[in-house]
Amino acid sequence: MKILGIETSCDECAASVVEDGKKVLSNVVATQIELHKPHNGVVPEIASRLHTEWIISVVRDSIDQAGLNLKDIDGVAVTSRPGLVGSLLVGLSFAKGLALSLEKPFIGVDHIRAHLYAPYLEQTIEYPYLGVLVSGGHTVISRVTEFDEMEVLGTTIDDACGEAFDKVAKFYELGYPGGVAIDRLAKEGDSSAFTFPDPSLHKGDHKYDVSYSGLKTAVVNQLDRFRNGAAEKSKENIAASFQKAAVDILMRRVRRALKDTGLTRVVAGGGVVANSLLRKELLELKGIETIIPSMLLCTDNGAMIAGIGYHYLKRGITSDYSMTASARVQAFRKKYP
Ligand code: KG4
Ligand code: ZN
Repeated sequence: MKILGIETSCDECAASVVEDGKKVLSNVVATQIELHKPHNGVVPEIASRLHTEWIISVVRDSIDQAGLNLKDIDGVAVTSRPGLVGSLLVGLSFAKGLALSLEKPFIGVDHIRAHLYAPYLEQTIEYPYLGVLVSGGHTVISRVTEFDEMEVLGTTIDDACGEAFDKVAKFYELGYPGGVAIDRLAKEGDSSAFTFPDPSLHKGDHKYDVSYSGLKTAVVNQLDRFRNGAAEKSKENIAASFQKAAVDILMRRVRRALKDTGLTRVVAGGGVVANSLLRKELLELKGIETIIPSMLLCTDNGAMIAGIGYHYLKRGITSDYSMTASARVQAFRKKYP
């Protein structure tokens, strides 16, 4: 079965053809980074407009690069949630129209589950595992037991981890995209130059939840010290100190979740997993097998959508044409003692 996967949840306009949920025949990603750069962040209105302009050629390229014709496609999968609603609607509406005209099945899939499916395109992985999804829009720690079975253990109660990187970088004018700039500067900085608190969300329902808005505010409150040159290499030091605090917040929850669930495998995905400190810490978890997909499959792409879409369509599961886009994470929470 050859599935076309379409992804437009944020600022990547992507399409891919994947055979039998495994073999990537094409993977086209048109990034809008340069067009959002002047605004120091993704502008939702610009993102959705660009998707409408780009989607036809992105899908056409993905079909051409796979060496196929549209009629060879067995089904159309598309991200339906979560993400920027205007952006999601472009991909979703396009996918519906295409599936309808080709008289092929259509399935709307969850972006978070798809991110955690991405490493399956490169290797064989056994369930269950702890899913650690860290991107510009989402921070989700979950117990994954099947391709579509995900119990959300923890998530952010305010900003996503990548969002905090982006906002701190914007405030201190460190560069865009923020995460990449901070990672680069942090290599030259002293991570103990500034100390930041970890919000104490450690009890009850919030045991595995993270919060980044407090950290962001604490970093912003260092502006005077930063300006007064309290330390040399202020930019490098603020980047290194923030990065360490941001990674610590996440890793503390990851370690706790691993201990409580007894899981011995971690699958990580999302743009922030490109961060050198986070990668190092995840790969150094003792007694744990850590799986991180290659960079192209860490960030938003259509292959992960086509890949997971195959498993639904193979089981005869399709979506209704009344399906609409949603900004929210579809969460099924399970409490661990
Ligand atoms: O998964 P992704 O490409 O898009 C979303 O679904 O959000 O993630 C983008 C996020 C941005 O916040 C970006 O700053 C962050 O990933 N990012 C990084 C690094 N590279 C990208 N954050 C920290 N360190 C990096 N090296
Ligand atoms: Zn994503």
